[in-house]
Amino acid sequence: MEQIRRIRVYAWEFPVRFSHWINFLCVLTFAVTGLYIGNPYAHAHESHQWIMGWMRTLHFIAGYVFLMSFIIRTYWAFMGNRYASWKALFPFTSEQRRDLANALRFYTFTSKKPPYAIGHNAAAGLVYMGVVVLFAFQIVSGFAMYSLSSQSIIASVVGGWFLSVMELSTIRLFHHITMYLIFAFVLVHIYIAWWLDTVEKNGLIDGIFSGSKFVTEKELE
Ligand code: HEM
Ligand code: HEM
Repeated sequence: MEQIRRIRVYAWEFPVRFSHWINFLCVLTFAVTGLYIGNPYAHAHESHQWIMGWMRTLHFIAGYVFLMSFIIRTYWAFMGNRYASWKALFPFTSEQRRDLANALRFYTFTSKKPPYAIGHNAAAGLVYMGVVVLFAFQIVSGFAMYSLSSQSIIASVVGGWFLSVMELSTIRLFHHITMYLIFAFVLVHIYIAWWLDTVEKNGLIDGIFSGSKFVTEKELE
């Protein structure tokens, strides 16, 4: 069998991996506590069973952590390597547009050639841009609602202004619906990561833990 030489490339720097896994933990926390806030599925029988209180407290702590992670990743989109750059999220160049067409052909089963990107492929980049918008909306709408019950300056600066843009009940509804959009992304994201990892064989999933991917000389070109 022909041996393929693979080269180790450090694609995902620490801030990218750190924010990825912090976001993962936050989204998990938001989902469990947010679903409870919207529709309390367990009732307290004693006053010391402060279930709703804990759910809301956890939701708000995750809110601050998520905001910090968002700021770190945004900073790194300007300071990090080319794979972390904001430019990787949009198909600006003709090469990126060609990659986008190739990736879409692969995802729609009209081509068998995987996208083979060292960083994000062009289609993934565009989808991640959409996810950034959903994250930003959750942060602004979340802090808008939080600013009603909190004296926090951060809450009023990040979200307070949004109360004059949208009705509170609409904010709450959209905050809830956006959660399901994020769930839909996560399901497809994990499925595609798994699938691409097995066809590209470049350590795609390991890469988001260790930072390194293993690519062929042709891909490196
Ligand atoms: C709440 C769950 C998750 C969310 C919201 C999420 C979101 C994201 C985002 C936004 C990126 C782009 C990273 C960046 O440029 O900063 C990314 C990359 C990545 N994620 Fe996740 N992720 C989640 C869970 C997972 C899980 C469980 C896995 C492992 C199976 C995973 C594997 C990856 C991989 C391999 C990449 C880099 C892929 C690439 O080259 O495009 N993610 N994820
Ligand atoms: C991925 C991110 C997030 C998800 C999935 C999420 C999910 C949810 C859900 C499902 C609800 C219940 C809505 C309802 O049906 O009434 C909720 C409520 C709420 N969330 Fe989030 N959330 C997120 C981010 C945030 C952030 C960043 C904050 C900022 C502090 C925040 C603050 C709030 C507040 C204040 C409420 C209303 C609490 C109450 O009325 O007692 N959320 N969230």
